[in-house]
Amino acid sequence: MSFILNGYRQEPPAEWADEPLLFILREHFGLVGAKFGCGVGICGACTVLVDNVPTRACITTLDDVEGRQVQTIEGLAKGETLHPVQQAWLDHAVPQCGYCQAGQIMTAVALLNDTPAPTDQDIDAAMDGNLCRCGTYPRIRAAILHVAE
Ligand code: FES
Repeated sequence: MSFILNGYRQEPPAEWADEPLLFILREHFGLVGAKFGCGVGICGACTVLVDNVPTRACITTLDDVEGRQVQTIEGLAKGETLHPVQQAWLDHAVPQCGYCQAGQIMTAVALLNDTPAPTDQDIDAAMDGNLCRCGTYPRIRAAILHVAE
């Protein structure tokens, strides 16, 4: 089997096919940005992009991404230059505890890829499934709107 991970083709062993993508990313590829939160597809902490669609890596198997493009937060920056969404997150001091923020950022990246000038309603609809126990939602909205300007 094979898939593209952050722009690089990977050919993991077929025995890994039924493993959750989240565990493959974290344990076999060392990409620990995506976090294990609920483990059942509800919280969004594990969000990565699969063909630019925000995807819950905890309930996605490696087999599900056969032949597809997977992007994690580690694949956003270009060398030393942060992705504009990452930079906006810093500029707006979005994170508090930070645990959910990789998932928040990946969902925001997908939103802005699809909708470069989102309305408040677009942001609410896109970000609705990414939970933050610290309540950073106002800063998340501000950072997304900043990138959209
Ligand atoms: Fe995957 Fe919560 S850990 S949605």
